[in-house]
Amino acid sequence: MVDKSLNVDEVDTELQTQPLVPEVPNTHTDRAGELLDYIKEKPSPLLELANQSIVSSRQFNRDMVVQLCRLAAKYELNPIPVQRPLTGKILISAFYEPSTRTRLSFESAWHRLGGDIMSITDAATTGIAKGESYQDVAEMLSGYGDLVVLRDTNEHAVYEMMESLRIPIINAGNGVDEHPTQALADMYTIFKWRKGLIEYDLKPKQRARIGIIGVPDRMRTVRSLLLFLSLFPDSWEEVVIISDAEKVFSDGQQEELEERGLKLRVSSDLKKELPKLDIIYINAIAWVGDSYEEHGMEYRLDRNSKLKKNAIILHPLARGEELSTDLDKTEHNWYFDQARGAVFIRMALLTCYVWLF
Ligand code: CP
Repeated sequence: MVDKSLNVDEVDTELQTQPLVPEVPNTHTDRAGELLDYIKEKPSPLLELANQSIVSSRQFNRDMVVQLCRLAAKYELNPIPVQRPLTGKILISAFYEPSTRTRLSFESAWHRLGGDIMSITDAATTGIAKGESYQDVAEMLSGYGDLVVLRDTNEHAVYEMMESLRIPIINAGNGVDEHPTQALADMYTIFKWRKGLIEYDLKPKQRARIGIIGVPDRMRTVRSLLLFLSLFPDSWEEVVIISDAEKVFSDGQQEELEERGLKLRVSSDLKKELPKLDIIYINAIAWVGDSYEEHGMEYRLDRNSKLKKNAIILHPLARGEELSTDLDKTEHNWYFDQARGAVFIRMALLTCYVWLF
């Protein structure tokens, strides 16, 4: 029915000119096609993931990451596969800590592969609120589903569940420890941006310089990403950690990464480093217990930041004031594509579970 009280002159003309279906900004599906053509198919590394729970980025080798990215690119080009390999399988999606992207992209991936889902979004609705042990909860979950995806503020929860769990589990963020599938999504975005970075023995000019604005000691996304980056040490001119934290690395972390071949440097001077960076990864929060810590709030990126031409910005999100929305419609915004691509890399990973059943 027409609202006759509405005076046409009062209508916001800006709203009138907006398309009914908004444009999708900064998606790079064309690059997924290029990546798919570039990587030669080699299924054997993915077969090794078939019986694995995924807890840490340390479980992956270089071939696994490359082949997962290839499969993710295939899914990005065809997000509604004709074959529905997870039909009849049940995912238990247990998120005992807030999440927008990880839970929904895992669930989207599982749905797209044809499976069913039981979702827990609040530990207070389960026996954990009554003091039930993780081991007992895991015993129950083993009888109710085929795979568990767990996010918990307690970094030991995933290990305690594994003591009695008889189905695989994927760590979707355990305290400040790790978030391996987020880091897989980061790697997929990086290789989509520049596919040649998967190669061995790159010349200095072909390498990328990465800046990570964050604290590896406290941020699980950064911890997992650094481990994946260290699988491709020749691809990075260097990895600069931009932080003014008193403790940037946890005990032994820097040594481990350097032993794995990563060239690391710490700087507190974002202004000086920024114009030299090809990839800027920024994050300012770490979820700890029931709330979050803020780190490096003096480091901010906006449209006036001195970014190198063609540099890309990644952010695991959720963002705060460290990343201005005025960058969203620029070519530097690869963070939305990173969040979207998480569905496809998770579809790739979940496909490996098909070989379990
Ligand atoms: N990247 C990430 O872990 O986001 P969520 O907290 O929304 O899952």
